[in-house]
Amino acid sequence: MAVAADVLDELRAWAVPGRSADFPYALVLGHLRSVGKHFLDAELLRLLDEIRRSVAEREREREREREREPESESESVSGAEGRDGPSFLRRFLDVVLDKHDDRYDYPSYTALSLLTRPAPADRHEALRSRDEVLLLLLADLVRFEERASTDTPDAPHDMPPSPELIAKRARLAVRVMEPAALRALPSGVVDAAAVAAVPGRTPGGPLAAEILRTAAPEQALALSASVQPVYVLHDEYLFLRTLQSFETTFTFMSSALATAVRRLDDDRPQESAELVGTVADVLKESLPLFSLLATMRPEAFQTFRTFTEGASAIQSAGYKTFESLCSTPSLARLASSAYTSVPLVRERVVNGQATVQGTWHALIAAHRLDPADDAALRAAADRLESVHQRWKQTHYRLAVRMIGERSGTGYTQGVPYLAAVLDNRLFPAPDRHSALVG
Ligand code: HEM
Repeated sequence: MAVAADVLDELRAWAVPGRSADFPYALVLGHLRSVGKHFLDAELLRLLDEIRRSVAEREREREREREREPESESESVSGAEGRDGPSFLRRFLDVVLDKHDDRYDYPSYTALSLLTRPAPADRHEALRSRDEVLLLLLADLVRFEERASTDTPDAPHDMPPSPELIAKRARLAVRVMEPAALRALPSGVVDAAAVAAVPGRTPGGPLAAEILRTAAPEQALALSASVQPVYVLHDEYLFLRTLQSFETTFTFMSSALATAVRRLDDDRPQESAELVGTVADVLKESLPLFSLLATMRPEAFQTFRTFTEGASAIQSAGYKTFESLCSTPSLARLASSAYTSVPLVRERVVNGQATVQGTWHALIAAHRLDPADDAALRAAADRLESVHQRWKQTHYRLAVRMIGERSGTGYTQGVPYLAAVLDNRLFPAPDRHSALVG
C-alpha cells in the first residue's frame, strides 16, 4: 500500500505542467482507503487542493475558449468541464477534500456526485438506469467481501469478516440483485424459473463477475472512486454501498413520482397508478438491503461513526424528494430538521411543488376522475404506504441495534427521532391539515 510520501511524489510528477498522463486515481484511492479519509496527511491534502485549483482554472479557460467559438464543434477534451458542470476529476477531488474544506456531509460521504446522474425522463429508462447502477454497486460489494478471504484483501481491511459472514452477505446482496438482474441483464444470466421458485439462490460470485466484466471503463472508475471510507474497517465498505444502493433507488422513485404527477395532470390516471405501483415494487425489492446492512458488526460501526459526525441520511435529498412528491409534508415536519437538513428540497415544497395526492384530489374535485381510476390510484398508494411503513420500521429496528441510545450523526436524538417519524404517512387522511393549505 502506498505511503503518503509515495503518493505525494507521484502527484507532484503528475502535476508538472505540460504532462498529460491520466490522474493516478488508483494510487490516491488505495492510500486513502488504507488510512481512512479522516486521517489523510495535511501535506497531501494541501497538494490535492492545489491540484483541484489548477484543474478548475484549466477547465474555466477551456470553457472561455468554447464560448469564444460558439459555432465550432469544439472537440470535447475527455473529462473536462463541459456544460454538464465540473469534470469527474474535480468532483472526485471535492469528495476527497470534503473534510479539509469543512463541507463534509452525507452527499459527500457517500460520493453521490460521482455516482448519480439525473434519472432519464422516460420511465423505463429511469428504471433501467437504477437497476444498472444498483447491480454495479452490489456486484462490487460481493467482489470486495469475497476478496477479504484472500492473502491480499482490498482496503479497508481491518476487522475482516469470517467466511460464514462473507457468504451470508453475498446471499443477501443477491436477493436485492435478482429482480434488477432479471430486468436489466441479458436473459439467461439469471435463471428466472429458479428465482421464481426460491429467490436468493443465484451464486453471488459468478453473477458479480459477469456484471463487473461488462462495466464500461467510466463506470468502473466511478465505482472505485465512490468508496472513500473515513476509517480502515472492512464493514464501512458495506455501509457505503448499502447507502448508495438506497440512494440510487430513491433517485428512481423521485423521478417516477414526478412523472406520475404529470400523468395525472394530463388526465392519464391509469398510467399514474402504474407508476406509483412500480415505485412500491422497487422499494419492496430493496428492503433486504436492510438485512444485508444488519450483518454489519455494531462494534465496527460504533468505531468508524466517530468520524462520520455531521453526515447523516437525514440529509438525503432523494428520500425527501420522493416523500414530498407523494403529498406536501406537514408544517411541523417542514420546520423540523427533517427538511431544514435538505434546504433545496424544502424550497421546492414551499414554492408549491405539485404532489400525487394534491393533483389526485384536485381531479376528484373537478369531477375529472372516474371511480375505477380512483380505485387504481388508491390501491397503488396503499401499497406504497405499506412498503414505506415497513421501510421505516426496519430502519428503526436497525438503528436500535446499531446505536442504542446514542445520538444520531445528523444531530437528532437518534432512535427517539426515528420512533416519532413512524406515525407520518406518505398519503395522509384528507382531514389532516396539509402544510400549505389551512
Ligand atoms: C447503521 C445503520 C443506520 C443507523 C444507525 C441509522 C440511524 C439513523 C438516525 C439516528 C437517524 C436520525 C437522524 C440523525 O440524527 O442522524 C436517521 C435518519 C435517516 N436515515 Fe438512517 N440509519 C441507518 C441506516 C440507514 C440507511 C441504510 C438508510 C438508507 C439511505 C438510511 C436512511 C435514513 C433517512 C432517509 C433518514 C431521515 C429520516 C427522516 O428524516 O424521516 N439510514 N438514521
